[in-house]
Amino acid sequence: MNKKFLDLGLQPLANEYLKKFNPKQKKYRLKIFFNLKNKLVSISKRISSKKMFNNNYPYRSSMSQTMKYSFKDLSKEINKRFNPNKILEIGSNDGALLTNFYPKKVVGVEPCSNLAKITKKKGYTTYSEYWDLKLALKLKKKFNSFDLIYSANTLTHISNLKNVFRSICKVLSKNGVLIIEDPSLLECIKKNSYDQFYNEHIYLFSTISVNNLIKKFNLQIFDIKNLKTHGGSLRYYIKRIDNKKIKISKNVNLQIKKELKYRLDKFATYQKFSRNVMLSKKKLVKIISNLKKDEKTLIGYGATAKATTVLNFCNIDNKMIDFFIDITPEKINKFMPGKKIMIHKYHKKKLEKADYVFLGAWNFKKEIFNKEKKFIKNGGKFITHIPSPRIIKI
Ligand code: TYD
Repeated sequence: MNKKFLDLGLQPLANEYLKKFNPKQKKYRLKIFFNLKNKLVSISKRISSKKMFNNNYPYRSSMSQTMKYSFKDLSKEINKRFNPNKILEIGSNDGALLTNFYPKKVVGVEPCSNLAKITKKKGYTTYSEYWDLKLALKLKKKFNSFDLIYSANTLTHISNLKNVFRSICKVLSKNGVLIIEDPSLLECIKKNSYDQFYNEHIYLFSTISVNNLIKKFNLQIFDIKNLKTHGGSLRYYIKRIDNKKIKISKNVNLQIKKELKYRLDKFATYQKFSRNVMLSKKKLVKIISNLKKDEKTLIGYGATAKATTVLNFCNIDNKMIDFFIDITPEKINKFMPGKKIMIHKYHKKKLEKADYVFLGAWNFKKEIFNKEKKFIKNGGKFITHIPSPRIIKI
């Protein structure tokens, strides 16, 4: 049974950056639920994948060095630890992981054709299709099976999880390994990062809920890693239950214990989280309003989907934030979804115009602070809402 714990109000599609501002841009009510039985956290309204993931998708994994390094490290680990013959990546985006392997070794699946085109051009077999049973059967016919299937920040975007895992089981070899990686619910609760919720993020996984989901498919987690990416993610290493060759690492129980200690299995935890989210909204609006009263200039850094949730939930508009800066070509000269706040091409000069900078990409704080040493040295200040709204003291 699903029980609601949070209402983030009316939200546009988080990656729908419009060239021309439309005050009537379609918005959807974003409510978040906890399933008392399988402990899965999910959003209420399901928008069709076709509406969100199309030939114009603006999110590019390769836009940050942090992500690129993370994928490079993983590719080395995959080769060393599992030495797979054939790898399948579900949601290969612009090839940030894929391109670390020889083209013959990997197959990508990426429904957003603008992104699939990038890897195809580099010689990587990429199916520009949605991950489902039909595609799995097609791949089975062509490749028989894969020794390693990887999927980062993708499965949480697909509504029908049963179909997802059933399809994976069709093409995962007998002793194959499935690695999935997604933002961690525990980190979200700890950091009060309610902006992990938007229309694309249908689920936010915990180890407890992933365990409950996959056991029905005779799969089990055998290892787990905490990652810093996306504000705190978990990488789950999964095998078939009857594959006894692979030992279960103690990391799995350790993570479950941590989650239970934090009471991720109890509804009351989410009610408390919801109260903290409301407080966060009040505080952030107060900080920004005070700065505006003092006639300070405020801009945003990193036009993230997460920032879309914050702006629309906290009713922050162009009277409060002048514009955002971002390096993603697909976002430049467009508007933040749902708000008349323009995204400008990143340039140090644009940054220097601001007294204060709202960190839309707070998950890349380290990378950004490194890049903006001069701005910081000259007195430039950053604002964040994670874990609670404040002007960052550096
Ligand atoms: P990310 O946090 O991965 O996104 P989302 O919430 O949408 O999943 O996106 C980071 C965004 O920040 C992306 O649009 C690129 C941008 N960015 C910069 O503009 N400059 C930078 O130095 C970094 C690290 C990111």
